[in-house]
Amino acid sequence: MNAQTLTDNARKLVDDHKGLLAMDESNPTCNKRFAKLGIPQTVETRRAYRELIVTTPGLGESISGVILYDETIRQQKKDGTPFLKVLDGAGIIPGIKVDTGAKDLAAHPGEKITEGLDGLRFRLQEYFQMGARFAKWRAVISIGEGIPSRSCIEANAQALARYAALCQESGLVPVVEPEVLMDGAHTLERCRKVTEEVLRNVFIQLNCQRVLLEGMILKPNMVLPGLNCPTQESIDEVADITVQSLLRTVPAAVPGIAFLSGGQSGELASARLNAMNVRFKSRLPWSLAFSFARAIQQPALEIWLGQESNIKAAQQALFHRARCNRAARLGEYAATMERA
Ligand code: 13P
Repeated sequence: MNAQTLTDNARKLVDDHKGLLAMDESNPTCNKRFAKLGIPQTVETRRAYRELIVTTPGLGESISGVILYDETIRQQKKDGTPFLKVLDGAGIIPGIKVDTGAKDLAAHPGEKITEGLDGLRFRLQEYFQMGARFAKWRAVISIGEGIPSRSCIEANAQALARYAALCQESGLVPVVEPEVLMDGAHTLERCRKVTEEVLRNVFIQLNCQRVLLEGMILKPNMVLPGLNCPTQESIDEVADITVQSLLRTVPAAVPGIAFLSGGQSGELASARLNAMNVRFKSRLPWSLAFSFARAIQQPALEIWLGQESNIKAAQQALFHRARCNRAARLGEYAATMERA
């Protein structure tokens, strides 16, 4: 492992006020999103959609890296140009989702453990050879009555840390994603407590597994009230409590924190990220960036609908959301940027 290269690559992912675009939906997840909009669920439609994304003009102005999926990293444009070559031309670093999904955790009803450690070393080596320079692993933590359990948090934190150490061994920057889900009626305060407990455990395990903190990116949830909680705090309150939780739990050696969007609307995710950067940017040890999937892609997907004639308009929508999020990193996002 070359510590300097890992550190440089981690920095590149959050430099210049850019962020990550997650386009690593597994086939079942991608198919589910297509099905909702009546788009056929085939290898070809998934390929065509990913071609739309990677060929979006100007994407590299706001996006430093994209997260691909095993099917996607091997695909090409219709004219035969590999997606990896297209990304290289756009100055975008390719990354790869390497977990194999969240499965039921035995003896823990309602809780999940993310799998994918078996054979991971060899898969990482192959992805590195192909050109990937970073990877992603997502752990999922649900809030509910009596959950999350300590054992679920610890098992997921340890898997994240083992994955991160293996990534660095293979020269890939690990994006470490412990996601506390928004589903439920829990309060903002409960999400804060759970998020802090999860992050504390994650960094204990990362240190235990000897992960180089300078050579990783943290991808957490924002601290939010549950979707069904009657009290929905303001953008500024969410910004304040999220940053406070991160300051309590994330070591200063970590170069960047790139939030997931978790099902927030594109506008709200941008507004909240913007508020954090407006209120705290000069006082933080790490960059506050984004690694959104739905909050960047959803409007484009809804315009595309599988139709070739909609590609240009969909690409404009994708470019727009990416640009809004770069503005949010600068603290320059405003609702007026949204088109009527
Ligand atoms: P969302 O931004 O849609 O939450 O997706 C981020 C991601 O990569 C989930 O693993």
